[in-house]
Amino acid sequence: MKDVRTDGQPKRVFIRTYGCQMNVYDSDRMADVLRPLGYALAEAADQADLVVLNTCHIREHASEKVYSELGRLRDLKTERRAEGRDYTIAVAGCVAQAEGEEILRRQPAVDIVVGPQAYHRFPELLAQVARKSAAGGSKNRMPGAGVLDTEFPPESKFDHLPSPQGIRAGSAFLSIQEGCDKFCTFCVVPYTRGMEYSRPVAAVLAEARQLVAAGALELTVLGQNVNAYHGEGPDGSTWSLARLVRAIGEIPGLARLRYTTSHPRDMDDDLIAAHGEVPQLMPYLHLPVQSGSNRILDAMNRGHDRDLYLRIVERLRNARDNLALSSDFIVGFPGESDADFDETMRLIQQVGFASAYAFRYSRRPGTPGAALTDQVPENVKVARLAALQALLGQQARAFNESKAGTTVPVLFAEPGRKAGQIMGKTPWLQSVYAQGDPRLFGRIVDVRLIEGYANSLLGEIVTGDYEVAA
Ligand code: SAH
Ligand code: SF4
Ligand code: F3S
Repeated sequence: MKDVRTDGQPKRVFIRTYGCQMNVYDSDRMADVLRPLGYALAEAADQADLVVLNTCHIREHASEKVYSELGRLRDLKTERRAEGRDYTIAVAGCVAQAEGEEILRRQPAVDIVVGPQAYHRFPELLAQVARKSAAGGSKNRMPGAGVLDTEFPPESKFDHLPSPQGIRAGSAFLSIQEGCDKFCTFCVVPYTRGMEYSRPVAAVLAEARQLVAAGALELTVLGQNVNAYHGEGPDGSTWSLARLVRAIGEIPGLARLRYTTSHPRDMDDDLIAAHGEVPQLMPYLHLPVQSGSNRILDAMNRGHDRDLYLRIVERLRNARDNLALSSDFIVGFPGESDADFDETMRLIQQVGFASAYAFRYSRRPGTPGAALTDQVPENVKVARLAALQALLGQQARAFNESKAGTTVPVLFAEPGRKAGQIMGKTPWLQSVYAQGDPRLFGRIVDVRLIEGYANSLLGEIVTGDYEVAA
């Protein structure tokens, strides 16, 4: 592979990320894999030589977006070709895994389809594309002649990735667990990401230390079921997430630690206790419940009922009294009646969420839920979603308003919406806007919260540090 294009300019890659935090981590790691091949990051698809769509398959809408984007990229490729230059299109992530060959058939302009467990092999895939090109195939390539790698390889990608580069504004993601064995009946993740896998403790701690040394004040450890973590410890014993969290909390210089996404079934005693004992662990937990109806939770194969969820919430709040919760909800799962939906609304009222995501059930090919006959009509889903979001919206606003008048540490990360404003996050992951200097990006400073709104807060920087920084 050459480090520069034939016109002497550096090669550029544009990576577009869809879906969850796992994909955000993977996109950064793909950039790390491509960097040694000479690829710098581009800001947009039309400034790139290689475009990677890191895709999400979770709902139908997410998957279909990929094909419309691929149509636009095909047009860009045609323009480039007319100028005698090359343009490589890759589809990575969960749609790549789920649809594989079908992508090459539906959009022949695609050169590479690579699954979420195989992207460490990107250099080899690019080499294959280059070889096909050199053989004269690429200009008038037959449809479906792109290269495909959607294996779940025997080796772990994590053992073949270079060290992570580039911390964004003091905050970094660290994948410690992948895949899922829980097979909720609505969900594609066990099929797109494969079986549950936990990275060894030593590799996780080494990466965590590297990220902190590179400037991360906040680490979020990731997994599809992050609290199912059961990595091999240095002494051969199996570590739980609680044990890992305690060890990461001891890394000097790390101010904030979060983990996501966790499953209620895997909230063990030690992890709950860690919320009261590890000061770096932020007082905010995303703990999806999906539904408040026992009948629906059972049909979803969630493996717990509403009482277990409520008990866990109570124990978490006993461990850390200022803990805020967020959740995911699905409305209109097959068979969901008005009474089932009311149970979900009642659970929301009982718990009180600081934030939440709610989705209309989307029928996903190959999942058990798709085969159920009592699908809920779309108009009913729409109405239920609106009612649910109204209640969750009220709770989010009330939570934000409840923090007004207090002074809290904020990790600033990016420009705000208005001139002179910057935006950062509180310990509860709320967005705070304040007048401030971009030199504060990547720093934690005290902010007095003035007013809370539906999705954010307005604040005023009060810390003495600010004068030093400005
Ligand atoms: N592992 C996480 C969730 C991963 S998927 C967990 O178990 O909580 C993220 C969210 O997408 C889920 O929590 C669920 O609310 C939603 N989701 C997944 N499949 C869906 C589907 N078929 N239709 C609608 N929403 C779905
Ligand atoms: Fe999907 Fe359920 Fe696994 Fe979460 S626990 S990733 S919702 S199958
Ligand atoms: Fe989507 Fe795959 Fe994440 S399906 S939600 S990108 S694990």
